[in-house]
Amino acid sequence: MDDHSNILDVKNLSLHFGRDDAVVKAVDGVSFTVGRGETVALVGESGSGKSMSALSITKLTPRAARIAGGQVIFGGEDMLLMNDARLRHIRGSRISYIFQEPMVSFNPVFTIGWQIEEALMLHRRGIDRKSEVARLLELVHLPVRLASAFPHQMSGGQLQRCMIAMALACSPELLVADEPTTALDVTVQREILNLLAELRDKVGLSVLMITHNFGIVSDLADRVYVMQKGKVVEEGSTRQILDDPQHAYTKQLMAAVPRLNPKK
Ligand SMILES: Nc1ncnc2c1ncn2[C@@H]1O[C@H](COP(=O)(O)OP(=O)(O)O)[C@@H](O)[C@H]1O
Ligand SMILES: [Mg+2]
Repeated sequence: MDDHSNILDVKNLSLHFGRDDAVVKAVDGVSFTVGRGETVALVGESGSGKSMSALSITKLTPRAARIAGGQVIFGGEDMLLMNDARLRHIRGSRISYIFQEPMVSFNPVFTIGWQIEEALMLHRRGIDRKSEVARLLELVHLPVRLASAFPHQMSGGQLQRCMIAMALACSPELLVADEPTTALDVTVQREILNLLAELRDKVGLSVLMITHNFGIVSDLADRVYVMQKGKVVEEGSTRQILDDPQHAYTKQLMAAVPRLNPKK
């Protein structure tokens, strides 16, 4: 894939905690790309540097973290060199995140509809917000009447759908999904993954999917990067990696998912 078809091109990214002899290289020279309309997965065990890689893209990393090198090219610009105003603009309008715990992303005292409207107010002035909320809820297959519900009145799966609706409110080009189904029951996980696949096709979203679970990449991801201890140890098309993993660590991660065990 040539550079022009990539929405995101992360080059040699490093992120450190601490200094000198106490330095922790949470991300250690990581490179990956996401093509337009492509779904790319970062897979690795807990602590391998997936979230820090994903948060570095928009410099949403913790205060204690230091981006020690690399480039994050998005739309032809290096995100790491941007001023704060420009960064904030891109965060709100062109790159959206969804996280593991939908509940913490919502304010308990406001209705879902109100919170989606607020996101629209920030990023898309002058549109008919009520009808846009309805459109977004329909897009994630929720009944429009849920606009008047409060977060605690919804199931985990419904809330994650709301989270996705809110993430889509600004019509992002890139959706970063950090363990979006980890907190959900297995059947609900499947539904959310199906929804993400559908949205990728329908809205033309590019998705960076982050997971510790190889089981969820097979249906959704076009390509996979396997991360271990802050480094990419293997990359390839999903089929290539699932059919013929090269690295012992990749095999180990795959073995942890029973239904992906090699056929006899
Ligand atoms: N707030 C923090 N303070 C110090 N070290 C951290 C902090 N957050 C993460 N780390 C370090 O960064 C590494 C990678 O973290 P992270 O990207 O969150 O992993 P993953 O998302 O793959 O589970 C961790 O193993 C840890 O060493
Ligand atoms: Mg993480």
